[in-house]
Amino acid sequence: MAGLREDFLWGASTSPHQVEGNNVNADWWALENAPDSPLPDRSGDALDSYHRYAEDMGLLAAAGLNAYRFGFEWARIEPADGHFSLAARDHYRRMVDTAHELGLKPVVTLHHFTLPRWFAETGGWKRPDAADRFARYIEFVAPALHDVEWVCTINEPNMLAVFASVQDTVLSLMGAMDDPEQKAKLAAALGRVSPDQALGETLARVHRRAVETVRATTNAKAGWTVAQQAFTSTPGNEDVFARVHRTWEGFYLDAARGDDFVGVQAYTSQPVDADGPVPHPAHPDNTLTGWAYRPDALGTALRRAWDEAGGIPLLVTENGIATDDDTRRIAYTTEALGHLEAAVADGIDVRGYLHWSALDNYEWGRWAPTFGLISVDRETFVRTPKPSLAWLGACARRGGLT
Ligand code: FCB
Repeated sequence: MAGLREDFLWGASTSPHQVEGNNVNADWWALENAPDSPLPDRSGDALDSYHRYAEDMGLLAAAGLNAYRFGFEWARIEPADGHFSLAARDHYRRMVDTAHELGLKPVVTLHHFTLPRWFAETGGWKRPDAADRFARYIEFVAPALHDVEWVCTINEPNMLAVFASVQDTVLSLMGAMDDPEQKAKLAAALGRVSPDQALGETLARVHRRAVETVRATTNAKAGWTVAQQAFTSTPGNEDVFARVHRTWEGFYLDAARGDDFVGVQAYTSQPVDADGPVPHPAHPDNTLTGWAYRPDALGTALRRAWDEAGGIPLLVTENGIATDDDTRRIAYTTEALGHLEAAVADGIDVRGYLHWSALDNYEWGRWAPTFGLISVDRETFVRTPKPSLAWLGACARRGGLT
């Protein structure tokens, strides 16, 4: 049976806005801090990882991991239209250096949900020059990427397209997420949505240009990361399933053909009925995000990505579980890795596994869903590794589950 590669990446992921703190020039910051903000929690100081990144990385490396996925924040690098910050670029270069020094392969994301506020307020991705502007940002940061092997252009373009078509509903319901009725309404709104296909097509064009730019200005492998819901068809609804899979994720996997890799992100699985994806019904096993407990989703996602992105290398850029019971995190990840190893045994080229998340971070409006291998006291910023960190590090040292 084929095992994992010698150079398999074992690591964890974060995104800038969710951990850095005070990302004041980003559109999300503006949303969180608007007087009538519908978001229950703000990112605020977050985990202060902007200053404490070396400590974060040190914990991952000490546990035995050999990779760290983090992002460059466009809103810090170009805080005003056309004004590029050399100091911000130097900061991210120091992060890359620190990762190398600690024996962690950096996997760098260039855009993870947040946009510079000036860009968002002038049309965002719908601006006619969006691809040029993103390419110009990449050209500016390229010198900081010269020895980075893995670059993700856009994180979850498909979730951006889903979010774009339900933004108002989601925001209006988020404020009362602890109320089960609101939570059910939110799940229903998210479940029955169609992603904004025009935005998806725009993002695919932006991505093509970004891949060309990364290839022309760095030595990195370039790809984007696609969220997969591991949809399954209910009997008689195969056509709806095919359409849902195509518009939610197949289109984005297809658009990755010809890239150097595609990032696979999977957490849960959802059935599709005549009306589309079925919202997760309440169940005691549901995770803190309300998602069904489905570690097998990773196997489905890897197999679909392999088939639909044309057999390019796969990198698991996110997989994990929101839970306050760390034994459950280990159980979930054990099962998910079992599905990954089975996919590799079947000949699928998987280059690494990056767990979401390194730290309990800001989950887009809420602090409650804890995905981290490390918990953080948000007043003292003291980091406390959970047993799952040592457990994942032991997998890394062994080179697999067993
Ligand atoms: C993904 C996002 C990531 C995190 C996880 C739970 O959709 O890329 O930032 O919020 O979900």
